[in-house]
Amino acid sequence: SSVTIPPPECMLRPLEVPFRYLFGPGPSNVPPRVLAAGGRGIIGHLHPEMYEIMNDIKKGIQYAFQTQNNMTIAMSGSGHAAMECAVFNTVEPGESVLVAVNGIWGERVAEIAERMGANVHIMVKAPGGVFSNEEIEKALAKHKPVLFFLTHGESSAGLAHPVDGIGDLCRKHNTLFLVDAVASLGASPIFMDQQNIDILYTGSQKALNAPPGTAPISFNERACQKMFNRKTKPVSYLFDMAHLSNYWGNDGQPARLYHHTGPVSGFFSLRESLAILVEKGLEESWRHHREVAGYLWKGLEDMGLKLFIQNKDLRLPSVTTISIPEGYNWREMLQYIMKHHNMEMTGGLGPSTGMVMRLGLMGYNCQKTNADMALAALADALKNCKKSKA
Ligand code: GLV
Repeated sequence: SSVTIPPPECMLRPLEVPFRYLFGPGPSNVPPRVLAAGGRGIIGHLHPEMYEIMNDIKKGIQYAFQTQNNMTIAMSGSGHAAMECAVFNTVEPGESVLVAVNGIWGERVAEIAERMGANVHIMVKAPGGVFSNEEIEKALAKHKPVLFFLTHGESSAGLAHPVDGIGDLCRKHNTLFLVDAVASLGASPIFMDQQNIDILYTGSQKALNAPPGTAPISFNERACQKMFNRKTKPVSYLFDMAHLSNYWGNDGQPARLYHHTGPVSGFFSLRESLAILVEKGLEESWRHHREVAGYLWKGLEDMGLKLFIQNKDLRLPSVTTISIPEGYNWREMLQYIMKHHNMEMTGGLGPSTGMVMRLGLMGYNCQKTNADMALAALADALKNCKKSKA
């Protein structure tokens, strides 16, 4: 045999990565300190120093989630890895799962649960719709699910869904309460233990400001009881919590055994981003996101734009959804903003596509000066993007 595929020319050019203002729903710009942490020389994924770093990450997540759960880890993978891990480990084929769908994330979880053979029931509302506790209880009683899924930070709709009281209803109906806080963690308050959330996950690349690729997740005792007393093995080897709990030193075994090679640099970055959150403090982080979001919302409304979520108290402070202004082509506006302002904002996602434009100011990006830049870019686009014929 001989080499017949020639070396690709492109690889002989240096890596080029433009600077870009990431004012969409994530990833957001990564602070220099977190970038530097990820650029440190790596060590082995099974070295004692790495275990110490993982132990620190676990403590950081426990703080960020406000939980004492021992079964707290970071997934090697994005928020979707955590989503699949939660479903794959707590549900067995044929079991009933209830999913609240009011944007893309419920749709995703319903599909994931269906793929692994669960008996999936969905409660559907238009993007940004809010489920009352009465509606949820009725559905729990009817479908008797082992798992109920709700999105706290619905980034496709710009909604921060209330969670109070739902954990108690789930307990009453012997259901595990799974909450997605990928887009909300660090920006909007959530209290895993006090709100009786059984499984909670987030992603690294939103308000935490680490690069994409790691995803904190935590399971409480009820969730552990269910997932470690199953009859069948979870469909995924990589996401099997029996292995991951050992890798994270959570199973009480004296040794951590090789399961997979964790993203060492990603864990360095995640640790640094959690350290920044710890230094700032959760309350201050929530207050700051809310303040900058309030400033942005006022600026948008002053410009004549309409916010998609009308009730201020239900708006996600990290990702703001703007109704598409009448007569404008949203794709054209977003392309204009990218071309002339080097700035990412995005359209809707899944069921909100064509309904909204999304503007995210999270963590490091969450500054009034950035809100001013985003407002100026939008004003410029409104002025210069031709109105399409109605
Ligand atoms: C992705 O996480 C998004 O909300 O677009």
